[in-house]
Amino acid sequence: MPGVLEDCLLDTRPIGVFDSGLGGLTAVKELERLIPNENIIYFGDTGRVPYGTRGINTIKKYAVSDMRFLLSFNVKAIIIACGTVSSIAIDEVRRITDLPVIGVVEPTAKTAVEVSKTGKIGVIATSATISSGSFQKAISKLNPDAEVIARACPLFVPLVENGYFGRDCKLAQLAAHDYIDEFKGRIDTLILGCTHYPLLRGVIEDILPGVILVDSGFETAKTAVSLLSEQDLLNTSGKGSVHYYVSDQTSDFERLAGIFLEHPVNGMVDTVDIEKY
Ligand code: DGL
Repeated sequence: MPGVLEDCLLDTRPIGVFDSGLGGLTAVKELERLIPNENIIYFGDTGRVPYGTRGINTIKKYAVSDMRFLLSFNVKAIIIACGTVSSIAIDEVRRITDLPVIGVVEPTAKTAVEVSKTGKIGVIATSATISSGSFQKAISKLNPDAEVIARACPLFVPLVENGYFGRDCKLAQLAAHDYIDEFKGRIDTLILGCTHYPLLRGVIEDILPGVILVDSGFETAKTAVSLLSEQDLLNTSGKGSVHYYVSDQTSDFERLAGIFLEHPVNGMVDTVDIEKY
C-alpha cells in the first residue's frame, strides 16, 4: 500500500507566516513558488501597523499575540516575515513554542555577505530594527571586515500599506531619494531589511542602479524551505493554499495583496480580533 505509507510521511499541517501588514507577502510569494503543496496561514496585523516606529515592549506584546493566533491553527513552523519582530522579539517568540521559528535577520545578512564583493553593505529597515543593530551585528559576525551603513526609512511602511509603491510613484520616489541618496557610490549591496521594502524595489533600483538588493522576505522563505526539508516537515503532494487573516477590514489588503502577488486573493482574507490573543 505505497499510497498509505506516503500519506503517513507527509506533514499536512500549515505553515504560519506573520508580519505587521503586507510586507510578509514578500516571503509568501517565494513560498508559493518553491513549495506549492503547502498550506499557509498568513497573518498581517493591519490594525496595528506600523510596528517599526513603536517601543520595544509594544513590539514584543504584538509579536506574542500574533504567535498565539497562528499557534491556534496547529501549524508546523512559524516564519516571522518581519524584520522588526525578528530584531526585537525573537527570544520572546521562541519562548512560547518548541516549533521551528525562522526570522529574517540571519538569512538576509548571510546572503548579503556572500554576494557583496567589496564588503561595503548598506542596510535599510525600520527605526526599531536599525536601533537594535541586529543586521549590523549579524553581518560583522560573518565578516568582521565588512563596512555597514545603516539607515531607517520610517515612511516606507505607510507608503506601501497605502499602495504608494509603484516604480513611477512620485511620493515614493521623493521619500526614497531623501533616505537612500546617501548610499550612492558607497556600497555594492543593500539589504532591504524590512519586508515591506521589496515592494519599493523599482523605486530603489532606479536610485541605486547596479547595487545588489537583498530582499529579506525572499531570503527568509528560501531558508525556511531548506530547514523544513532538513527536518522532514514538508508536504510534497496535493495542491496547497494560502489563507490570509488581517486585524482590520479586508478590502485594502485584498486589493494590494492581489497586485503584489499577481493573482487575486479575494475570498481568501478574513478579519480576526487579534486583541483576544
Ligand atoms: N514589515 C515589517 C518589518 O519587516 C514591519 C514594518 C512595520 O510595521 O513598521 O520590519
